[in-house]
Amino acid sequence: MRLKLLVGNTKISVLKGSDVPIFYIHGSGGDAEIWTKQLEEIGGYAIDLPNHGLSGNAEIRTIDDYAYFVAETIKIVSGKGIVVGHSLGGAIAQKIFLNHRETVLALVLVGTGARLRVLPKVLEGLKEMPSETAKFMADMAFHRKEFVELFAKLFEARAEILLKDLMLCNEFDLLEDYKAGNIKFDVPTLAIVGENDFLTPVKYSQFFTQYGAEVRIIKNAGHMVMLENPEDFNAELRNFIGLVKNSYGKD
Ligand code: COA
Repeated sequence: MRLKLLVGNTKISVLKGSDVPIFYIHGSGGDAEIWTKQLEEIGGYAIDLPNHGLSGNAEIRTIDDYAYFVAETIKIVSGKGIVVGHSLGGAIAQKIFLNHRETVLALVLVGTGARLRVLPKVLEGLKEMPSETAKFMADMAFHRKEFVELFAKLFEARAEILLKDLMLCNEFDLLEDYKAGNIKFDVPTLAIVGENDFLTPVKYSQFFTQYGAEVRIIKNAGHMVMLENPEDFNAELRNFIGLVKNSYGKD
């Protein structure tokens, strides 16, 4: 089922599984439907970011702006929750943790990193040769090649918003803030990554372990790990949710 919420003047569309307080944030050029397997098997809420899916438009200048819209959505739905973000969504999740901590029970950082530089040839290519570049991106994003054709078409159709999101990723950089000790995960935090992720390699997730995160590496999956190996991904997520419940139960 879909919820339609209003954040300021912007309509936010949310796909709902069951009402467990888990909030999923999609990646660049994506939408809430990427989380279908998680909504079906675990439940929670998958958000269409502004300017994506069935949500309305808003002016987004930085990843902090996306973080604001997601945090406000969480506040409306349940006050706080487990925030799960993939790629760009993982950058947004980190910003929610930094800027809107009161909404975060726990964090799940999926195929993401503390810095998300993007290959210049992708940024240039999406302007100059969207079709070829969309195919290249889809190839890079998937270990399981049966998804490539469909996503190449999808990325091409969404080349404009994909480029805008990737430019925001390219500017996102908390690496030195982590290294300087300015960021520590004081909520339960799990990083999940596909072992064959070429866009956000495993070492980006391992980096988070120095700051309090656990990491899980999922076999037979690339960057789109929650879609490529939902069985193992969901098992890790379910296990983590159990740990989060226990840790809050003891307080
Ligand atoms: N977490 C931990 N370490 C990171 C990091 C992250 N998120 N991002 C970069 N680093 C590290 C690198 O591992 C490297 O360390 P090393 O010198 O010990 O090898 C160092 O920072 C410099 O990184 P590097 O990748 O050389 O430079 P860069 O961060 O400027 O990236 C690109 C340039 C674009 C070539 C590279 O990021 C890349 O290949 N990206 C993958 C493709 C892509 O477009 N991904 C999209 C993500 S949404």
